[in-house]
Amino acid sequence: MEFNVKHGALASIKTGCLVVGISEAKTLTGPAAELDAATSGQLSAAIKSGDINGKSGQSLMLFALPGISAQRVLLVGTGKEELNDRSFRKLVSSVIGTLKNGGATDVVLTLADLPVKDRDLYARTRLLVEGVRDGLYQFDQFKSKKADKPRLKKCSLWSSDKNDAKALKLAITHGQAISDGASLTRDLGNLPGNICTPTYLAKEAKALAKQFSGAKVEAEVLDEKDMKALGMGSLLAVSAGSAEPAKLIRLSYQGTDSKTKPHVLVGKGITFDTGGISIKPGAGMDEMKYDMCGAATVLGVFKAVASLELPINLTIIIAAAENMPSGTATKPGDIVTSMSGQTIEILNTDAEGRLVLCDALTYAERFNPASVVDIATLTGACIIALGTKTTGVMGNNDELVEQLLEAGRQADDRGWQLPLFDEYQEQLDSPFADIANIGGREAGTITAACFLSRFTKAYPWAHLDIAGTAWISGGKDKGATGRPVPLLTQYLLNQIQG
Ligand code: BES
Ligand code: MN
Ligand code: ZN
Repeated sequence: MEFNVKHGALASIKTGCLVVGISEAKTLTGPAAELDAATSGQLSAAIKSGDINGKSGQSLMLFALPGISAQRVLLVGTGKEELNDRSFRKLVSSVIGTLKNGGATDVVLTLADLPVKDRDLYARTRLLVEGVRDGLYQFDQFKSKKADKPRLKKCSLWSSDKNDAKALKLAITHGQAISDGASLTRDLGNLPGNICTPTYLAKEAKALAKQFSGAKVEAEVLDEKDMKALGMGSLLAVSAGSAEPAKLIRLSYQGTDSKTKPHVLVGKGITFDTGGISIKPGAGMDEMKYDMCGAATVLGVFKAVASLELPINLTIIIAAAENMPSGTATKPGDIVTSMSGQTIEILNTDAEGRLVLCDALTYAERFNPASVVDIATLTGACIIALGTKTTGVMGNNDELVEQLLEAGRQADDRGWQLPLFDEYQEQLDSPFADIANIGGREAGTITAACFLSRFTKAYPWAHLDIAGTAWISGGKDKGATGRPVPLLTQYLLNQIQG
């Protein structure tokens, strides 16, 4: 989808479809009023006849109106109250739902002009661009009969004021990069476990690095032999039961002075989580193909950052493995030694995410990071605590945690902090090793983060638990969401202003 900016009189705009909001207020304002005047009252007439009254969710397509150059006009209800992020997103999604299978190949949206609570033009346009892209996303790689490709190819964003052009263009650039990143994240997440293996992720990462070969991008893939030499006994304990070899994948992007410390993102890349010997129940287990969404997220963010050529240094690390039961699998009670030297009693082989992450987090130390954020579909308990709308945020540095929460608010991809008080740490005590890999029934999301905190003392660190937000479970909307690519890209965008 191509986006551009348009100004000028609505009457003379040539387009397949002009989209205009109608509120429930008595009098038409803004683009709706302008269009009504240009068409000698056709919008007022549609309202008077009861075909539309501005209620949210309503829409009306008008064809070949007199007095204007647009072929069609799509009127959409914006409701009684001021729009907010959520109602604005819904509006955009319903517009795209209508246009996707319609006749127009290009469209002019006047929706960035609508007031949205606490959002300036730039932020509204970001929401709009990302909303349009979201509405057009489809994943039908494995269908013999593909869904019809949307005819819609070009999307112009209209604004009355020529001075708006700069903000609009920046929002389009950022929104497109974030959507491109999130689409990659969604595609990788949606791939089945028999295709998306650790080896596949490594290939994808290398291919991504190649796409930016003009920039300073470096790719590194460690195989099991390399990891053994580094002492990554914890990560290797997870892949021990699988025929698929684990990979530790790193991409580094240098967008500024090589002496500037990089921001490091670490992704959980369990390409399928059966639970191992502590095997999961069968119902819904297919969704554990999504257990690599942390890895998919960091690749998506990397793509966004590299394509925007942000003047920061960024390193992503992916701990990729498949968690399977077999004769060679790790057993409950097994004790392993992590790269940090700490010994771990693996009481439950289904708490594998923290086992792969801890070694990747120790590995991160060598890049002398400004900060490290790990992203993981880590605990079912996070879905119980926060549901599927909000990412769990924890960390050892309040400033970093606050930056992530703020970025989430800005990007409308929100997180919420859970406490990492020391009192929780003792739930991980083991009678036989330095630490146990589970902390009992209580506060499962927090004790998982407590486990990671034992390996992140060398730098400012935060942890995003995306178990609830990374994909939509079951139902007709089943699929990866691309979250939290917007949150993290925003966080990194904010680093260049600071
Ligand atoms: N990948 C799962 C967490 C998960 C479960 C994410 C369901 C999304 C939906 C993780 O590896 C896991 O199995 N965690 C266990 C931890 C427990 C054994 C302490 C869990 O949440 O049950
Ligand atoms: Mn598990
Ligand atoms: Zn898992």
